[in-house]
Amino acid sequence: MNFFARKSARDASAFKGPLSSFSSHEPWSAKARSGRLSYLAFRTATHEGPWLPRAVEGEIPRDICGVLLRNSPGQKENFDVPLGHLFDGDAYLTALRFENGRLSGRSRFLETRERQHERHCGRMRYHEFGTRCPSRALGVKSPPSVNVFAMANQNFALSEGAPPVAIDAETLDCLGSCDFGKSWPARTTFTAHPKRDPVTGDVFAYGLKPGLPTELLLGRLPAGRDEFEIIARLRVGGFYPVHDFMITKSYIIVALPPVHINLWGILRNRSSIAENLVAEGDRPLRIIVARKDGSGVPITIESHPAHMIFHHANAVESEDGKTIRLVSMEIEAAAGFRMLEGWGREAGLSQPKSQMTEFSIDLETKTLSRATLTEAALVEFPAVDPRTLGRSMETIYALRTSDAPGDPLAFDTLTSWDGRRFREIRAAQGQMLGEPVVLADKAGKSWIAHLGYDSDHDESFVDIREPVDLRLAARAWFGFRIPLGFHGCFIPDGDEQTPLRH
Ligand SMILES: [Fe+2]
Repeated sequence: MNFFARKSARDASAFKGPLSSFSSHEPWSAKARSGRLSYLAFRTATHEGPWLPRAVEGEIPRDICGVLLRNSPGQKENFDVPLGHLFDGDAYLTALRFENGRLSGRSRFLETRERQHERHCGRMRYHEFGTRCPSRALGVKSPPSVNVFAMANQNFALSEGAPPVAIDAETLDCLGSCDFGKSWPARTTFTAHPKRDPVTGDVFAYGLKPGLPTELLLGRLPAGRDEFEIIARLRVGGFYPVHDFMITKSYIIVALPPVHINLWGILRNRSSIAENLVAEGDRPLRIIVARKDGSGVPITIESHPAHMIFHHANAVESEDGKTIRLVSMEIEAAAGFRMLEGWGREAGLSQPKSQMTEFSIDLETKTLSRATLTEAALVEFPAVDPRTLGRSMETIYALRTSDAPGDPLAFDTLTSWDGRRFREIRAAQGQMLGEPVVLADKAGKSWIAHLGYDSDHDESFVDIREPVDLRLAARAWFGFRIPLGFHGCFIPDGDEQTPLRH
């Protein structure tokens, strides 16, 4: 811990206010976009439609039946405007259908209203997250390119700055944005990382409602229902780019980062979100704990150092409900800010340090302690078996960077932590790996599925691996490339929550 504490304290002193202007920013030249990073961040997807794998190594387990959906920003230029930030670009979806040991796929851009409008106009009309529209913009586009989630008997593509967008998981058609029967408040963001309680089936989400003051809203979608209940509204004093949260049996946990977005700056300067991030130098990390049933008053626990937390892995509460174990991925604040502000620019490519941390939260004393589980140049994209989410602290999977100094996106190692030791597998030279997803087959057995990319052949693949020891069971080669992107989910056939037809 001391390593991070020292680093953070030093960086924080030079870490107040907007760090830079994008006015001098030029996206990378084609020449500079070398290696695997360029694949992930700066090349537009080219393949749309149904497809079959070029080759399959090993045997795809016959009991895996369902669809693995992956989402990503898939467009890296917009009518000759290079999109310079990793978060920029329209949503590109891939559906991988597993059935009786066979795999088929479908990939396409999600035809949102904004995407169709720009194509109709023949030019860029919206600011992206990190790239300004060169002419008068109609607003900031929040393409649903981050995640996919099933709830309220529909499947959704998710951003986090705009409402969920319903999709047809068979055709990947865009069915329009959804406010859950007006139960989700207007002009309120919706998280890209909803959580389903594996015992009750209730879905939980948060959103930020801008205003004076800005409010953090917590919502519950009861199992079998299609309307949210807002269970808490908290004044948080600013528009904080919270990216993830966690649940336990009784609680919702939200960590506020030491960064906020100056919404007034976006409106006044007609600029992008990334240009209006503000680091809050000495502000502590604030962890908010609220009861899932909406009772009581949420508590806020402050802690230093205030690292950035993009993703949580899992959490469990003690039997008496007085303490919580929370495992999260922490990135030192200045590096996390740079990634958020300018991920994709050359200046943003210094290797950020991060760690998997176990927080021990005492709800009675309103204090917490930390234990470092692992450190890495970058350890991210945690995943657990969704049947254990918030209920049982079992194996945690994550991606690490090991062999790519200067390329923080080249995740080449998949790791598992079973509470006692780490196991790892390394990708072959020239390959990188995508976020692991833990899925259950018809017999209830767990498997690990993740995408991968081979730069030598410019080709994507999907791996199916045994849990814990990560032994490879099957690899299917696509015959073309898709962006590895960020998140997705597995929707098993017959899931009552997800009437998926494919
Ligand atoms: Fe995420």
